[in-house]
Amino acid sequence: MSFNQKHLLELEHLTREEIETILDTARQFKQTFQRSKKKVPTLVGKTVVNLFFENSTRTRTSFEIAAKRLGADVLNFSASTSSLSKGETIIDTARTIEAMGSDVIIVRHSCPGAPHLLAKKVQSSIINAGDGCHEHPTQGLLDIFTMREKKGKIEGLNVAIIGDLSHSRVMRSNVWGLLKLGAKVTLVGPKTLVPRAFEKFGCKICYSLREGIAEADVINLLRIQLERQQQNLFPSIREYKLLYGLNGKSISWARDDVMIMHPGPVNRGVEISQQIADGPLSVINEQVTNGVAIRMAVLFLLSHPSGK
Ligand code: CP
Repeated sequence: MSFNQKHLLELEHLTREEIETILDTARQFKQTFQRSKKKVPTLVGKTVVNLFFENSTRTRTSFEIAAKRLGADVLNFSASTSSLSKGETIIDTARTIEAMGSDVIIVRHSCPGAPHLLAKKVQSSIINAGDGCHEHPTQGLLDIFTMREKKGKIEGLNVAIIGDLSHSRVMRSNVWGLLKLGAKVTLVGPKTLVPRAFEKFGCKICYSLREGIAEADVINLLRIQLERQQQNLFPSIREYKLLYGLNGKSISWARDDVMIMHPGPVNRGVEISQQIADGPLSVINEQVTNGVAIRMAVLFLLSHPSGK
């Protein structure tokens, strides 16, 4: 067991051993999910704060459930009704919360690096719950956990990540984690949405959906993030759907046992059809369940360095 980090800011700078420690710890926590009493009170007396400056359904609620299962007190901070609207900075906001006794602050912000800044300015452990287009480490971890659980291993696994890759913090966290654990990653999408820079880190780049998914063990689909695009990067949603949407026809280009993933929220009928999203190859709901196990593991490990 190897984990001595105070913060979880990104997967890019974690070691393979640290990532495997989180995955193994999450597997142990997941075993408690079938119990009638699901609490594992290892964080009793600790205070965990959800500090979200962007909307969230899955990440915020699963951090809340994870912290409560561990016995922590949880505060959900509402940015829209806070004194941020009067001009208070995020540093002053975080320091104000910390003065009330927080131990862990979970931050989502549209600005890449916002959690890193707070990690320098406050004493609490900081967890990045998504910073702009940079990283979403717990999403990357829960995706990798789901792949390992379903496919048995990550080493040698062919993973195709498809969609709006340029704007995706989920893609970046998946890529760093998967490459460290020995997977083969193919990035698939229109030229305007695939960052070629990842080729030098070992990713294969592919502009054809048919070619990109032919050998895939896992397909991870991403949402088109119109809210982060500053210009029109493809002609229309209709055209994107025709060329890169996963549906009854395009799924026939993949292996019969391919696993379909999506971090959510899903644009049904755009990157994935209803039939595929709800079909037997999809593990979208299991990803959500695994998110609780991963977030319990991260909260536990940050609060108990090296398992103490
Ligand atoms: N996958 C993800 O981050 O979803 P939310 O935006 O709902 O948290």
